[in-house]
Order: sequence, then C-alpha cells, then structure tokens
Amino acid sequence: MDERPIGVFDSGLGGLTAVRELMQVLPGENIVYFGDTGRVPYGGRSDDTIIRYAQQDVRFLESFDIKAILVACGTVSSVLHRFSGSLRLPVTGVVEPAAAAARVATKNRRVGIIGTAATVRSKCYIQALGGGIEAMAQACPLFVPLVENGRFKLGDVVIETVAREYLSPFIEFGCDTLILGCTHYPLLRDIIAELLPGVTLIDSGAAGAKSLASLLRDGGSLCGRSSGGKVEYHVSDDPSGFGRLASLFLGTCVNADARKVDIETY
Ligand code: DGL
Repeated sequence: MDERPIGVFDSGLGGLTAVRELMQVLPGENIVYFGDTGRVPYGGRSDDTIIRYAQQDVRFLESFDIKAILVACGTVSSVLHRFSGSLRLPVTGVVEPAAAAARVATKNRRVGIIGTAATVRSKCYIQALGGGIEAMAQACPLFVPLVENGRFKLGDVVIETVAREYLSPFIEFGCDTLILGCTHYPLLRDIIAELLPGVTLIDSGAAGAKSLASLLRDGGSLCGRSSGGKVEYHVSDDPSGFGRLASLFLGTCVNADARKVDIETY
C-alpha cells in the first residue's frame, strides 16, 4: 500500500481529461496536477524545448513526494523515451496505451491519428500501432489554442470550419478508429463525431490513466481507499477563473482553486 499522491501534468488544462478518468478508476487516490498554462501550447515547439519544459514539470511534481507520474500530454509523451531513463519514479505516457486501445478497437485495420505538430512529427503513434495497421496522421495545430479559449462547442462556426479542414482527409482514408492523440481533444468529441460518424474515438488521456491504474495495482502501490481522493491543482499562469475552465475539462462542476507556480525555477 502506498498513500503518496499520483502526479499528473500537461502543457495546459487538457490533462484534466486524464485526471477525470483517474478519479473514476481510482477514486480513493490523491492527485497533484500541474498545468503549464503559462507556456501552453507545447506542440509547435522543438523537441529540445519540450523536453526542457517537461523535465521542469517533473521536478516540480517530485517536490510533493509522489509515487508515480502520468504524463497527460501527447506532445510530451511523444518524446518521453528521450528522458525517461533519467527519471526515478514510475512514469506512464499516453501514446502506447492509446495505440493499444486503437489496435483492439479497429476492425478494418485503418487507424487515423490527430495530434499536435510535434506529436505527428515524432511518428510515435504510428510506431506504437505496429505492423498490420494502416495509419494516417494529421497535425491539428489550431485545436489546442481554440479549446483553451473555450471554442469547442457544436455550432461554433470557427472550430467547425477548422475541424472540417483537418478531418476531411480521414473520410477518404476510411479509418474506422481515430486516436485523439492530444489530451485537449476529448472536448472536441461531439464535433469530431459529427464529421466522422461511426468512427470509434480513442481518448489518449483516458487510456493513459487506465494504464497507470493497472501499473499501480499490479505493483501493490494503490492507497487502499476506495473513495475520498483529493486533487490539488497548480498552474504557471494566472489561476483566476481556473474552477470554471477546469469544470469543462473534468466534465463536472468543481469549486477548485489552483496555486500559481514559478515553473522556470525548477
Ligand atoms: N494536451 C497537450 C497534448 O496532449 C497539448 C499540447 C500543446 O500544448 O500543444 O499534446
């Protein structure tokens, strides 16, 4: 049994879609969340910058005596292999768990992937899907800024126009499964489902959360409570209005405050 909290981080608030799943599968666990809202988005940056940011995010979470880390960010997960060897805690990203879920879901062996420019550049999802699957990946660089600005609802002409542009190639490709390779994208689920009817959507954050839950369970590292877990939130930019935005990502009304961190000092 291990009472220590689980650390979760993302470039912004998208990682809360993974926290939402963690709270469902492990409702007794305490969680420390960090969202790098001062430096989001990561997806248009170089690998070296993404790794430097991610290492600072990890060092901040490690200051809480956590037992494991969920990298609730597709972009950081795509370069995780480049620094995971130097980490002292068990770490789970979202790429392999989401690819495994897609392999199970697809019937016609055609899988689409959407993610940030960095994630698509890395080809990480294509590699994780492995042989026997035809894959097509599309970078969607405008999705994260639009979602962080609350532009994700059906009927919003801006997001619908952008989504149509990004997603039309998948109609011709004929995939029956689409990996939402960025943890912000579950908020676009209704819009994506309308443009790609009948396509199974794989939530990468949820897949990563389930994978970490199995890892902790198998390692005997759960806390032993079945309810009452607490989440504390930290961000690197102005935390005012956090509760309202966080509620959208968590899918439930939370009355939570976030503390501001000077992440450059880590
Ligand atoms: N949620 C992050 C991801 O999964 C957003 C990336 C970004 O900041 O560009 O990739």
